[in-house]
Amino acid sequence: MELLKERIRQDGLVIDEHVLKVDQFLNHQMDIALINEIGKEFRRIFKDHDITKIITIEASGIGIACIAAQYFNNVPVIFAKKSKSINIEGDVYWVDVKSYTHKQEYNVILSKKFLNENDTVLLIDDFLANGCALSGLIEIVREAKAKLVGAGIVIEKTFQEGGKTIRNMDVRVESLVKVKSLKGNVVEFDD
Ligand code: G4P
Repeated sequence: MELLKERIRQDGLVIDEHVLKVDQFLNHQMDIALINEIGKEFRRIFKDHDITKIITIEASGIGIACIAAQYFNNVPVIFAKKSKSINIEGDVYWVDVKSYTHKQEYNVILSKKFLNENDTVLLIDDFLANGCALSGLIEIVREAKAKLVGAGIVIEKTFQEGGKTIRNMDVRVESLVKVKSLKGNVVEFDD
């Protein structure tokens, strides 16, 4: 997505070889016009599916998923919750996730009343790095026996393992931009 690449070149901040900061327009301050274009692009990519729910994970995925949902007939957005608690209560799907980036463990939780085998799901998130959170969401969708059409990712860092891991789980991953390197303070795209 050329518009997004341009914006990353203009306003993205390379923190180090691993981290690209996009808080100017995506995950702190949000540029709604840009995110609308992101939503339209996800719709174009996944237009052949009758999606009934969009699922993301708190926090940064929520705003993007909500805007995108407007291009999918206003389907509901469910954001999975992260919790450090080991006391899981109620009728919920939950998985234990170990974040490689943050070197911590947490639970990803989603209420069973919002997801079942009649659902067709699109996952949406801002970044795909090591993919721990995303693989947790996939486990939950599979446990619910819902149909998973794929994952729409805004920025995939292809020098990290997430893309490979998730595609190896037989999940379609569509990333709007792929960053292959952040070395030397320069953002290099895959194509
Ligand atoms: P993990 O397996 O190492 O946990 O990787 P994952 O892909 O799940 O990413 C971990 C967290 O780090 C995610 O946010 C993700 O959005 C964020 N992240 C990864 N790489 C970058 C990057 O280059 N730039 C920025 N800005 N964020 C990155 P999170 O912990 O789920 O939190 P939230 O921001 O959504 O609340």
